Amino acid sequence: MSAAGAAARRPGGTEAAAAGTPVPGGLLAAARRVEIAAGDAVFLQDDPGDTAYLVVEGRLKISQHTRARPSNVLAVLGPGEVFGELSLFDAGPRSASAQALTDVTLRALHRDVLGELVESDPDVATWLLRQLARRLRRVTDTASRLVFSDVPARTAAVLLDLAEQFGIRDEAGALVVDHGLTQTELAQLAGATRETVNKALSTFATREWIRVAKGSTRIVDRAALARRAGSGPQPSGVVR
Ligand code: CMP
Repeated sequence: MSAAGAAARRPGGTEAAAAGTPVPGGLLAAARRVEIAAGDAVFLQDDPGDTAYLVVEGRLKISQHTRARPSNVLAVLGPGEVFGELSLFDAGPRSASAQALTDVTLRALHRDVLGELVESDPDVATWLLRQLARRLRRVTDTASRLVFSDVPARTAAVLLDLAEQFGIRDEAGALVVDHGLTQTELAQLAGATRETVNKALSTFATREWIRVAKGSTRIVDRAALARRAGSGPQPSGVVR
């Protein structure tokens, strides 16, 4: 299925909704097309960076390594999302690595081209600010969940976020999320150990809220997951 076709069946409805807002034409016209094969890196953390990318099709993971952890997934990005812009604006090295989870089509924008566009086209500047605001909101939500929510709530929230980005409805009305992540990577997104996230997933599966397969999750009862994440209505108290 094409990205546009898949997007049309996402809970958000349209490709623009999946991406936040439509990508300005001026930006698309100035960008160079780049294809990355599944498993390949677009760039590595600490590399110097002079190019930002827009995801046209496919999925990538953004991960960081520290002395304590060889790899920690921070985010999964899909169509309409931008990455690699931080090094352009603050002139620092890449803050994280970007690796393709599937075959990926990108639009690449060199620092000089993007700089000119930001100055000459207010739509591009506004679009970029929206993308950064969206990212900041997500990072803030993740940080507050790490402080205020338990592991099952964080796991439920990660599944809902992935469903919002990549979920496709099947014939039975369930949301299928082909995220392509291992359970270790899912646990990293939830900021917890693989064991505790597995336990939460098993509990959700036993309650028939989800069905888990390798690299994908089927969300059967979205409302129950939302209540457990703390983001849905809780008519009869918090579900444990
Ligand atoms: P840059 O630092 O140039 O290269 C790595 C990119 O990963 C960075 O720009 C951002 O675009 C992206 N990135 C870094 N941290 C996060 C995060 N927590 N969530 C999503 N994207 C991120």
